[in-house]
Amino acid sequence: MKTVVTESPAEASRFIRDGGIVAFPTETVYGLGADVFNEFSIAKVFAAKERPADNPLIAHVARVSQIERLAGEVPLAALKLIERFFPGPLTLVLPKADEVPPIATAGLETIGVRMPGDPLTREFLSACSSPVVAPSANISGKPSPTTWQAVLEDLDGRIDCVLKGEPSQHGLESTVVDCTSDTPIVLRPGAITLEQLREIITETAPYSGDESGEARSPGMKHKHYSPRANVALGEIDEAGKVSLLQAQAFSDDPSECAFIGIHSPTEEFALEKIVGTLEEYARELFEFFRQCDRVGIATVICESVEEKGIGVAVMDRIRRAARR
Ligand code: TXA
Ligand code: MG
Repeated sequence: MKTVVTESPAEASRFIRDGGIVAFPTETVYGLGADVFNEFSIAKVFAAKERPADNPLIAHVARVSQIERLAGEVPLAALKLIERFFPGPLTLVLPKADEVPPIATAGLETIGVRMPGDPLTREFLSACSSPVVAPSANISGKPSPTTWQAVLEDLDGRIDCVLKGEPSQHGLESTVVDCTSDTPIVLRPGAITLEQLREIITETAPYSGDESGEARSPGMKHKHYSPRANVALGEIDEAGKVSLLQAQAFSDDPSECAFIGIHSPTEEFALEKIVGTLEEYARELFEFFRQCDRVGIATVICESVEEKGIGVAVMDRIRRAARR
């Protein structure tokens, strides 16, 4: 299959309407979309990504009114979060409407719904007529793509079209919040932080990161976000010396290692990325992983950061990438 690369949201939307699959930019990461009501197209998304069939997809809407056809009911807590955070990097898990085919939600009775804020994404979604289900546009297990070039690296020849946009602003996937019970529960941390959610709904339960959380959100149990290189969490002392938080086998030849973090190490690494803020850390992390793979780095050391605000999401993605 030839993958068409376009800058036109109208052209990209035609592929969706014709039953094709299209990668498109969002402010979090690039997604790989199909019409939510077309189960054959959705099957192609799972095949192209080699995604496990038990991992549900997020439905993307251009307008709040489209949520009616996706969700059987929108609980009060969800309405409040929609009012405050849509459009934006937030996904709400709601009871699913019968019309949505089971393949979209991996057989679950719930559906994740998100309204992206990126203007190009919204233009694309508006032109698609139906909501668009989309996982991240990577081969399953790899870091999510934050540029159209990274999408092609994984999916060229496997998908109908890529809508070319800017690099993703946040760089990590949306915050996922389960709104099916009285107390909203964070299932996946992201750019919308627990602190922000609690400003609207005080009792919002934090992301647990353990198996009970993973059971509620099937995707979280799968291996994720990993480059081919080993990933290790590190610390850096006042003298700029880097040490690993957990002893693990890794190449200690700095010429084969890379470093990403807030502080500058004294040793020289083959690749280094020093970020100024946690937001920049989030934005750069996945692209840095991919860069490391392009040049054959053996180990990527990621400086550990405080788990506050978006630091929770950054540390979650690093820990998952470090799992073997
Ligand atoms: O930022 C994002 O969310 C990106 C962009 C493209 O929108 N999408 C994304 O999709 O990250 P994906 O498929 O890579 O991750 C979706 C996550 C998975 O962990 C999945 O298990 C969870 O959301 N999820 C989706 N629907 C769910 C549901 N009904 N119940 C619980 N978890 C759900
Ligand atoms: Mg993904």
